[in-house]
Amino acid sequence: MSYNILAQEPNKIKIPSGVRLGTEMNALVYHGPGSKAWEKKPKPSLLETTDALVKISKTTICGTDLHILKGDVPEVTDGRILGHEGVGIIEEVGSAVTEFKKGDKVLISCISSCGKCENCKRGMYSHCEKGGWILGHLIDGTQAEYVRIPFADNSLYHIPEAADEEALVMLSDILPTAFECGVLNGQVKPGDIVAIVGAGPIGLATLITAQFYTPAELIMVDVDDNRLEVAKKFGATLTINSNNENALEKIMSYTEKKGVDVAIEAVGIPATFELCESIIGAGGHIANVGVHGKSVSLHLETLWSKNITITTRLVDTVSTPMLLKTVTSKKLDPTKLITHRFALKDIIAAYDTFQNAAKEKTLKVILTSE
Ligand SMILES: NC(=O)c1ccc[n+]([C@@H]2O[C@H](COP(=O)([O-])OP(=O)(O)OC[C@H]3O[C@@H](n4cnc5c(N)ncnc54)[C@H](O)[C@@H]3O)[C@@H](O)[C@H]2O)c1
Ligand SMILES: [Zn+2]
Ligand SMILES: [Zn+2]
Repeated sequence: MSYNILAQEPNKIKIPSGVRLGTEMNALVYHGPGSKAWEKKPKPSLLETTDALVKISKTTICGTDLHILKGDVPEVTDGRILGHEGVGIIEEVGSAVTEFKKGDKVLISCISSCGKCENCKRGMYSHCEKGGWILGHLIDGTQAEYVRIPFADNSLYHIPEAADEEALVMLSDILPTAFECGVLNGQVKPGDIVAIVGAGPIGLATLITAQFYTPAELIMVDVDDNRLEVAKKFGATLTINSNNENALEKIMSYTEKKGVDVAIEAVGIPATFELCESIIGAGGHIANVGVHGKSVSLHLETLWSKNITITTRLVDTVSTPMLLKTVTSKKLDPTKLITHRFALKDIIAAYDTFQNAAKEKTLKVILTSE
């Protein structure tokens, strides 16, 4: 994949004369594995006519930000502002932006997409030839007072005036990821037995959005009892703590040895993908959502005859307009996933709470800019 956008980063190029340099702002800056700081950075400026400058109202922290801080995502360089989720108000738009104007309230998609390249035209925004997942990754992100959003017309969504902004922050990444990579790719159908391995924010969002299709059973597997309790409240029909119980045996006996129709992996480690391979029934779908850093064994010696489908996906955010309607009409309430709230300036404390999820009983944190 080419990331031409890199060439547009202010610290990578000579700023052409006539481009206004912004004043200062505060932002959460990555300084290599294990190191981050809330510090002054230049306020971003428009670099392309298709850009918008957004003043952040609310943002959050993602499990992927923790992966970056661990050093698992080496293309993130020292000095990068993290974050790929949020809502805000348009401060300024480039001359080619037609759908947004100063003062509009917007939802920021975690995927920036030009809408014009071959991959965008087939709805695969995650693999946009000029964008994709770049925010808080290859260009500066949303854990800041201001963010520059490339391809604003295709990467931002209008927010209805009365909408709950905290609910909408869950639409930047969590809900479309769970729905597209888990539920749609898993082809969840009415009456299905669905197992979701991993009850983090993504696994729980998968549990919520799978219920659009009225599956018969929703089995949740995790190692954190608090998260499994939350899963029960959100509609899980069976919960299994795989540290205390043999998840494979329990699921096979629960399904009378048939296995499940859909197994959704929402952790990102070999053991949990292999559990999905062991519990899948004939004709079933294994939908991988987790980000994997290690290779995983593919057990074709047992799977070859089972007529199963295995899917992988980077979230495209093509379902965002649909999910936005389900949230604003209150058919879906993603605020159930929010456990903690902080001022944006207290983001270091918010990271601590998010990192100690089991102890603090954290799911999603909301950061509000003053
Ligand atoms: N495909 C995509 O586009 C995409 C987008 C966003 C996030 N993700 C990935 O989705 C995954 C889930 O995200 P999240 O934010 O919910 O992460 P998270 O770390 O909050 O949740 C993972 C859950 O897995 C549980 N777990 C750990 N080891 C386990 C085991 N052996 N068995 C059962 N459960 C176990 C943890 O207790 C936790 O509840 C991550 O890998 C994340 O990077 C993928
Ligand atoms: Zn994310
Ligand atoms: Zn594109």
